[in-house]
Amino acid sequence: MSIDARTEVDGPAAAVAKTAGNLLEVDNLRVWFETPRGLVRAVDGVDLTLRRQETLGIVGESGSGKSVLSRAIMKILAPNARVLPGSHIRLNDVDLASVSPKQNRHLWGVDLAMVFQDPMTSLTRCSRWASS
Ligand SMILES: Nc1ncnc2c1ncn2[C@@H]1O[C@H](COP(=O)(O)OP(=O)(O)O)[C@@H](O)[C@H]1O
Ligand SMILES: [Mg+2]
Repeated sequence: MSIDARTEVDGPAAAVAKTAGNLLEVDNLRVWFETPRGLVRAVDGVDLTLRRQETLGIVGESGSGKSVLSRAIMKILAPNARVLPGSHIRLNDVDLASVSPKQNRHLWGVDLAMVFQDPMTSLTRCSRWASS
């Protein structure tokens, strides 16, 4: 997995935003899964920083951990996931580990959102079901 394809929005707003701290910081994130066939080290020491006005692309082959990383940030991991001690995710300087599930739900759709894979296909399917 490569966390690299970074673009910045230029202009005065971006210049101000850059001085206002990071939007998202991930430090040494490790998410492992316990499975009957052993431990899966899906995300094993990921660091990233996203400043305001930035767009960050995460690229990697299938199974390299992109979805697990995104789900860890959203706190919607599968029950067999373990976020290892020493992993830190900060959104607007708030450590997400200290945020309650109720507070976390208030972040969804406001500060954090996830568009799942193939959204257009899903919507097409949903509308077909709705009209039948
Ligand atoms: N609930 C789970 N239990 C066990 N392994 C899982 C679970 N979810 C994901 N994995 C494994 O974690 C790894 C990363 O998966 P994923 O983040 O979905 O990859 P990507 O999104 O980059 O294609 C894969 O090896 C996948 O099989
Ligand atoms: Mg994926």
